[in-house]
Parts: sequence; C-alpha cells; structure tokens
Amino acid sequence: MATILVIDDDLDFQQMLRLMLQRGGHKVITTGDGPDGLTKAKQLKPDMAIVDVMMPGMNGYQVVRKMREDPDTAGMSILVLTARAQPVDREAALAARADDYIPKPVAPNELLAKVNELLAHHQSAQGPAKQTTSVLSLRGGVGVTSIAVNLALGWQARGRSTCLVDLQAGPGQAALHLRLNARTTWIDWAISGDTSTNGLSKFLLPHTSGLSVLAAPIVPMNLPAPNRVTTLLELLRERFERVIVDAPRIWDATCAAAVLAADNIWLIIAPEVGSLQSAVGVLRALKAARISDERINLIANQIMPNPGLVLPAIEKALGQGFKGSLPYDEAQSGAIGQGVPLMISQPDSLFAAAIKQLIS
Ligand SMILES: Nc1ncnc2c1ncn2[C@@H]1O[C@H](COP(=O)(O)OP(=O)(O)OP(=O)(O)O)[C@@H](O)[C@H]1O
Ligand SMILES: [Mg+2]
Repeated sequence: MATILVIDDDLDFQQMLRLMLQRGGHKVITTGDGPDGLTKAKQLKPDMAIVDVMMPGMNGYQVVRKMREDPDTAGMSILVLTARAQPVDREAALAARADDYIPKPVAPNELLAKVNELLAHHQSAQGPAKQTTSVLSLRGGVGVTSIAVNLALGWQARGRSTCLVDLQAGPGQAALHLRLNARTTWIDWAISGDTSTNGLSKFLLPHTSGLSVLAAPIVPMNLPAPNRVTTLLELLRERFERVIVDAPRIWDATCAAAVLAADNIWLIIAPEVGSLQSAVGVLRALKAARISDERINLIANQIMPNPGLVLPAIEKALGQGFKGSLPYDEAQSGAIGQGVPLMISQPDSLFAAAIKQLIS
C-alpha cells in the first residue's frame, strides 16, 4: 500500500481517482490546487503525486518543478495527467521532471497499472527509502571529500532528497567543493543544543542542485560530545532520504559515531602502500567496533595517473574485493578550484559515471 496525493481541480475526476486508487489498496489524499498540493506533499510525504496539468493559477508543470526543487519532496514518484496525448505533452511532463505521464480520460485499470508500475520501479531503482553512507579514510588526501560531494550530488540528481555532512572539526572543505559559504556549521548546531528536525533547517546550506549541506567550520573547533553526532545523524536520517557523511580522518569518537550510524561505509583506498597500510588498520578497527562486512565497501580511487600498486594486490592483502574503482580524472582538481563538481560540470566523465554506476 502506498500513500498517493491527487492534485486536480476537477472534483468529479478527483473523486473517481480516489475510488479507483482506494480499490487498488492505496491511501489517497486529495486537493484541488497546486499550492495546497505542495504544502500537503511537504507535510504528509506521500509516496506518489498524481498531478493534473490544466489547473487555474499554478499549472501542473509548475507544481512538479517545485516538488523536485524541494529536498522534502524531490524523491517522490510523480505522474502527470495531460488532457492531450501528443509527444510534446510527454516532453513537457518529462522536462518538468515528472516520472511519467498519462493522457486523460483514462481507464481505471490502466491508471492503476501505471501507478503500481511506477511505485515498483521507484522502489527497485532507488533502493531502500533511507540510507546513510559514511565516506571514510584515515589516510589524508585520497579523495574522501571529492567522492562524498559527487556521491551526494549523484543521489540528489536521481531525485533522492540528500544531505551532505562534513563532519570535520575543521577546516572542512566540502563547502569549498560546492562554492558555498560555510556561514553555519554542524558544530554550531551541536552547540545550539537543539534536538528537533525543524531546528536543523537554519544550519543547512542550500546548493543550487537541491542538495542540502551541513558544513564544517573553516577554523578548527573543539568537538562536541559524541552523542550529539549520533543525534545529528538520526535527525538528518528522519529528514532526508540519503545522508552522505564526509567522515573525520582520525579515529576519534566523532568518526566512530559516523561509522556506527552508517548503513554503508565507503572505505576509500588509493593504490599506494600508505593507503593500503591505513586500510588494514581501519578494517581492524571496524571489526573491533562490530561493524559487519556487508556494511563495508572498499572503493579504489585512482588519485594519480600511475598507481604504485595494482588493485588485485590490494584485494589480496586485504582479503576483500573492491566494490568499485574510480578512475583518475585530471579535471578533478580544477573542479575543486572552480567549486563545480564533476557530477555537475561533466556528468558523463568517467569519474562521475563510475559513482553513478555505484548507486544505480
Ligand atoms: N579520481 C581522482 N582523479 C584525480 N584526482 C583526484 C581524484 N580523486 C581525488 N583527486 C584529487 O586528490 C586531492 C585530494 O582530494 P580530496 O580533498 O577530495 O581528498 P580527502 O581525502 O578529502 O583529503 P583530506 O584528507 O585533506 O580531507 C584533490 O586535489 C583532488 O582533486
Ligand atoms: Mg577531505
């Protein structure tokens, strides 16, 4: 059973949809106009919205665009109802970033089949509803921040509401990668003592992609108590579908809290001996912290054009295979300088494509 929001100004049609969907086992919320639909979508977080195009005031395409821009509703399945079924209507619906469209009038069975197909596809294509990934290395400079930033943008581009958290005591660089001014940070949130999901909002930095960022301070700060980190990650998980953590590069209580809160740990390894040695130590620490192997993903990152070690040798030494390997990309350092990550400037580059592949 899914919760479906129907936004249509034609009350008879709205009623017909309600019956049809309820008969299909779904819970239905209805409204007759776009702005109210946006409020309901944000508050009630339905699994899907069915949006009529032709409505007075705000039309359906405008409603869909606004839903995709808001992190709270960006990941919803959206089906658009068009009065005509011309190719141009389909293009307009998809350009607004709806998942699909269906022409009106529509036969009940056809609509229900489309709704169920979209819901099933959405679930299987996008993985579990909520997921926290901590990107980690205790060896500096192996690309943790570059990967966390591009991974977060990759999820956001797939319509998942995503927050990137830079959990350094400072200086943190995730904001720099995204050309954001770190005017508020996770340490400010920790000091504020707030424990509500709403209270978090004023500390989040909005990025033009729709991604939310919780930055680290530029100046090193004293770390808050580890239970604040745990609370923070719980609140973010409630609010977002994907939480990506740029984990600290020292094994302190903050790092341990980030690791324990994560469904997935991406352990980043550069193909050189120092990184290998560090990875051996991290795997031991993760084992001691009783993190199961399924949660640990080894990711190779080719930070240099000529690697010192080949991946099979590293896999052999670690007794575990790589989940993925990110290629060397000479454009990566320029991307940091410009504050525009490759996932945005060159989404088809091998580096961005490899990250997309890992979350597909
Ligand atoms: N796949 C790659 N190809 C080329 N250069 C890369 C790649 N990944 C990372 N780099 C470069 O490596 C450098 C370090 O990257 P980054 O700052 O993301 O690493 P980090 O592990 O977060 O470092 P720190 O320990 O300082 O936090 C940057 O100059 C970045 O451009
Ligand atoms: Mg970093």
